[in-house]
Amino acid sequence: MGILDKHKILEKNASLLLVFSFLVVTVGGLVEIAPLFYLENTIEEVDGVRPYSPMELAGRDVYVREGCYVCHSQMIRPMRDEVERYGHYSLAAESMYDHPFQWGSKRTGPDLARVGGRYSDDWQAQHLRDPQSVVPESVMPKYAFLENRMIDGKYIGDVMRTHRLVGVPYTDEMLENAQADFQAQIDPYADGVDGLLERYPGAQVRNFDGSPGISEMDALIAYLQMLGTLVDFSTFEADASR
Ligand code: HEC
Repeated sequence: MGILDKHKILEKNASLLLVFSFLVVTVGGLVEIAPLFYLENTIEEVDGVRPYSPMELAGRDVYVREGCYVCHSQMIRPMRDEVERYGHYSLAAESMYDHPFQWGSKRTGPDLARVGGRYSDDWQAQHLRDPQSVVPESVMPKYAFLENRMIDGKYIGDVMRTHRLVGVPYTDEMLENAQADFQAQIDPYADGVDGLLERYPGAQVRNFDGSPGISEMDALIAYLQMLGTLVDFSTFEADASR
């Protein structure tokens, strides 16, 4: 009996075909799934990516609370039009410490994955206070009230501890210094700045909204200004002619 005849038996016998199909799918499934149980991480690590500093994390919380993701995505897709407009496409590693991730599915406004450094702090503050004052046709709501909501980082250590529970590698030292690091980030002359920069390399330290005290506006701008800046893409050129 040739192989084709044997196969005919399978084709003519529905129950047998079902059993064999099941076996094939099981083997295929195991081959795909089993390795995942032995890998610690499926994301390739990339130099420069680090957990958020306490101030950035607080800003990110404001971003989530205010629903900025309803109008803004944070994922540049690997397509020419997106890469030319926004920069290098997003890497998985760049959102590996995001819980929950902010990729989004709606772009009423532009993608923000690489908005860090695109505008000055002043522009960001003015745009948040009154978007229409800088972009007259904008439909973005005003967030001026953020400037009057003062925060002191009292609970940011708890937030970081929660993030550690879901896998963000915050060290004990980072947790101990959470509030100090939070406060140091808006004061370049603070004693704690060196420690902050050691724990969060490249953290930007300055008074982000330009007014005294630490407001939610400071935290949000600190977050916006670091978005997409951790990985060095300086040798990358988005060039349609290539
Ligand atoms: C109702 C939709 C909507 C919401 C909600 C919204 N935005 Fe926007 N955003 C827009 C639109 C539209 C633009 C483009 C016009 C402009 O610059 O104002 C924009 C532009 C921006 C820009 C400039 C981006 C660029 O590359 O030019 C930033 C930064 C920004 N938004 C941040 C935020 C933040 C932070 C929040 C939450 C506090 C937020 N937006 C909430 C609609 C929205």
